[in-house]
Amino acid sequence: MSVDALTPVAAEGAALTPARSGWIPGTSAIRFGGDYNPEQWPREIWLEDVALMKEAGINLVSVGIFSWALLEPREGEYDFAFLDDLLGLLHENGIDVDLGTPTAAPPAWFYRTYPDARPVTRDGLPLGFGSRGIMSPSSSDYRRAATAIADRLARRYADHPAVVLWHVHNEYGAPVTESYDDASVANFRRWLQTRYGSIAALNAAWGTTFWGQIYAGFDEIDAPRQSASVTNPAHRLDFARFSSDALLECFRLERDAIRAHATQPITTNFMASTCPSVDLWRWADEVDIVSNDHYLTAARLDAHVMLAMDADLTRSLAGGKPWILMEHSTSAVNWQPRNIAKKPGELARNTVAHLARGADAVLFFQFRASRFGAEKFHSAMLPHAGRDSRTWREITALGGLLGAAEELRDSRVRAEVAIVWSWESFWAQDLEWRPSVDLSHRERIEETYRTLWESGVTVDFVHPAADLRGYRAVFAPALYLIDEEGADNLRAFVENGGTLAVGSFSGIVDENDAVPAGPHPGRLRDTLGLVIEEFLPLREGHSAEVRWTASDAAAPVTEAPRRAAHEDSAPLSATVWADDIVLQGAHAEAIFTTGPASGGPAITRNALGAGSAWYISAAFDGADQSAIVDRVLADAGVTVTTPAEGLECVERIGDDGARWLIVLNHAEEPRELAAAGVDLATGERVTGSAVVPAGGVRILRVS
Ligand code: GLA
Repeated sequence: MSVDALTPVAAEGAALTPARSGWIPGTSAIRFGGDYNPEQWPREIWLEDVALMKEAGINLVSVGIFSWALLEPREGEYDFAFLDDLLGLLHENGIDVDLGTPTAAPPAWFYRTYPDARPVTRDGLPLGFGSRGIMSPSSSDYRRAATAIADRLARRYADHPAVVLWHVHNEYGAPVTESYDDASVANFRRWLQTRYGSIAALNAAWGTTFWGQIYAGFDEIDAPRQSASVTNPAHRLDFARFSSDALLECFRLERDAIRAHATQPITTNFMASTCPSVDLWRWADEVDIVSNDHYLTAARLDAHVMLAMDADLTRSLAGGKPWILMEHSTSAVNWQPRNIAKKPGELARNTVAHLARGADAVLFFQFRASRFGAEKFHSAMLPHAGRDSRTWREITALGGLLGAAEELRDSRVRAEVAIVWSWESFWAQDLEWRPSVDLSHRERIEETYRTLWESGVTVDFVHPAADLRGYRAVFAPALYLIDEEGADNLRAFVENGGTLAVGSFSGIVDENDAVPAGPHPGRLRDTLGLVIEEFLPLREGHSAEVRWTASDAAAPVTEAPRRAAHEDSAPLSATVWADDIVLQGAHAEAIFTTGPASGGPAITRNALGAGSAWYISAAFDGADQSAIVDRVLADAGVTVTTPAEGLECVERIGDDGARWLIVLNHAEEPRELAAAGVDLATGERVTGSAVVPAGGVRILRVS
């Protein structure tokens, strides 16, 4: 169903030409700055702030994101004095503004007047005032109020010279996506009517003959509330789709209200890989510029790899065009169990990692640390320790580095390897009563990504139905749900010469969470050249041994250039899963030698048309996973240049063929790599090899 089928409520006169293809107008510099919340400070501090912003080279700040209570102190009574003053001051000082609509945090009067606009949890609890992101996306009162304040702001500031970008709402979907209030139920019924047309079609799609759930009309349908046990998975899946779309309707209302008056680009800050409840493939084309928030998960030692994954996903959502890192942190956040401070140099390394992967704007949450409220222990560009602090020194140094890197603007990152990412499939797989609780789509994708990251392979993420021409290898580590369009697309990719690698428990259901007729893996059977007679999941903590088949030496797979040390004779250790596979054209590259599928295929390859499709029927980790990925890459003809351990190297390429190599050293010792070019920060000419200091970064214009 197209998003256009949703309730089409646009602001009157949404007629101005949107700046869809544009970038943030104004300076050609890399945009650098952060959220700025001066409501929390007296005006004399604002003066100090703008002076410090200039000192650090800050050229863009996001304001107004939490200002609704100040701007509209009583319903329909507006007071823009604070914002007039602030925008004027910023403009006088040459600092541009990303103007937020404050609709993630409605004022207290709103909740008193419209208590029904509060979201209701699945088990029936209405959430209270006091946090942010607390509203039912389907509430007509919320939508009206949000559209009204967006309209007022746009009328007033459309022509303000400080405003170069509009920032709608804040992090749609966090912390609440699904709401079980009455307005949501009514809106869900409308959404279902649009999707299915008739109740008979819905009954068929949802398989309501199971457990006698047949509906006589749409008005019998409720949100999938907490019940005695598991509820209809197709109902749950559609409610997840609907909930993501309901938020998108909210975004579109505000965006169109702004667009009726303003020509600057409009964005909203995504949480690409970290908000699991919003299908951003459906949102990406709705914003003029993709922007993203990313915070390290401090507990993870590979947090920098997950940062890279998030940045690659964001670039992919942006269709390869430049994007904005709207928020990250200078050091610790305040909302994780243990909020670990960043080490010296990590701040710049994180920022430059986003830049390397296509961001042309890098901003932080937030400029000045809050003294009060829920986020007073969150790091900031200007911490409580003030200007005489490591953080501030690193921020000013970063401003200098980004200034020197201006020529990177508008260059692109190219990838010949992609990973399939499908929110719909994740939602479906995460429902109850799956064959094993150890199946994790996220874990499989992360492990595949990590292996590719370690090999220095730059990765795009793709929707299953995306245009895959241009990729040599496509990995689908976890694609439980696939519709016909996606399955046909993957098959065509292989037939046309691509190499596809599909992970276990993929292709199992269609778009309604129903098993396609016949054996698993349904719509992927022919592409993979096999059928699965039975799932054979392993017990907790158990593993099965897998060995490459002897005939593998003669297989069309050439030895991968890296990790040649991996012995073909060494067994691999499979966990979580196994299948009872019957080959129907595919070749067993590796077989289980122990475990429930012992003697059967574990890793298969099907030659199809001009390409090949691999199936990996278990979870593998570390060196074993690398050995498998290497074979797939070699089969695809992908040249791998593995960097030294801890080095991350990404290339950006200009329209005219100019190339920049961005190198990050995550190791605790200096690292050397072969390179020739000019260091943008120091002007040093590098010939033959470049040393990257421990924890440091280098940006080289490649000669
Ligand atoms: C989110 C929000 C910000 C702030 C940060 C703290 O990203 O958008 O307003 O709360 O988290 O990490």
